[in-house]
Amino acid sequence: MKTTVSIIKADVGGFPGHATVHPELLKKANEELHAAKKKGDIKDYYVAACGDDLDLILSHDKGVDNEKIHKLAWDTFVACTEIAKKMKLYGAGQDLLADTFSGNVKGMGPGSAEIEFEERKSEPLLCFLMDKTEPGAFNLPIYKMFGDPFNTAGLVIDESMHAGFTFEVYDVMENKRVTLNTPEETYDLLALIGGKSRYVIKRIYPRGGSVPKEEAVACISTDKLSKIAGKYVGKDDPVAMVRCQSGLPAVGEVLEPWSFPHLVSGWMRGSHNGPLMPCSMEDATPSRFDGPPRVVALGFQVANGMLGIPFDFFKDKAYDRTRQKAMAVADYMRKHGPFEPHRLPSEDMEYTTLPAVLKKLESRFSKL
Ligand code: F6R
Ligand code: MG
Ligand code: MG
Repeated sequence: MKTTVSIIKADVGGFPGHATVHPELLKKANEELHAAKKKGDIKDYYVAACGDDLDLILSHDKGVDNEKIHKLAWDTFVACTEIAKKMKLYGAGQDLLADTFSGNVKGMGPGSAEIEFEERKSEPLLCFLMDKTEPGAFNLPIYKMFGDPFNTAGLVIDESMHAGFTFEVYDVMENKRVTLNTPEETYDLLALIGGKSRYVIKRIYPRGGSVPKEEAVACISTDKLSKIAGKYVGKDDPVAMVRCQSGLPAVGEVLEPWSFPHLVSGWMRGSHNGPLMPCSMEDATPSRFDGPPRVVALGFQVANGMLGIPFDFFKDKAYDRTRQKAMAVADYMRKHGPFEPHRLPSEDMEYTTLPAVLKKLESRFSKL
């Protein structure tokens, strides 16, 4: 029987402001999923948080886009929202953009990343949870894992990885997709995904090795909240999962790209470029200037549909230097105040609250 792992996430209220998820919400989510596991609706679960985002990691045998699983996640978010409203948590229910559930969380506010796979002899799976940024923040690290031999030694010295990988890329502005093969289409791929606010990596498929070609080995949530709501409603704080080892990038190769705190868009008011700081679950608590943007890495050894306990990778001291560098970059970027390139370029600001300010000035302009 195949195993499916689904990460479904939403911001249903921050504590305080947009900083973290209140312990009462985590408790409620755990209770709901515990009951679902007892009923046999899911095999296993883990409730995590990164910043103000509540991340439900679920394992089951129902495949991707399953209505029952999506409804379970939706109902859990609704139950947490009720508590958030009572406690007047900030932005209670902010990511639940629809009044009632209609079959799939896609297009309703929450983000999701899911993979269905035949479990190998051993199945190491890494889940990445981000806050204060957007799906394109995954482009650089995912490219490095699966496409860059300077990052992933296996691309050079493991024969089963020589065939390369297929990248499925979404154009989130035009709602289109394209697939590109590495290594031969690397330049075309980079031409697209370097434009990370528009082109985002959705899934990776293997072209050789023992994992079937139609089975995804990585999946990223690509949901665009502003596109759904028609206005700025916060950034689309994304999640992803990556399968590792035995012909896929090793755990250490999947972790290596995060040693560079690359610049991502998000941070304060979803309107600023800033460094992505890898951190432990405990430290996934944005503070300075509502940030800086964070990423958490939870490692699981999936076995017979069970997730088991996660290992909190970025707790490791090996990422201390990255965090220090991230803070040095944060200092440097902050010095720009309201100026680009700290503030996002004008095209990206269209999806924030800035256009309302510019509208106010429209009538004051006269022709040159
Ligand atoms: C960023 C984020 C926060 C808010 C900021 C202002 O994704 O959620 O930085 O944008 O705290 O929030 P409001 O406008 O709700 O006061
Ligand atoms: Mg929030
Ligand atoms: Mg958030």
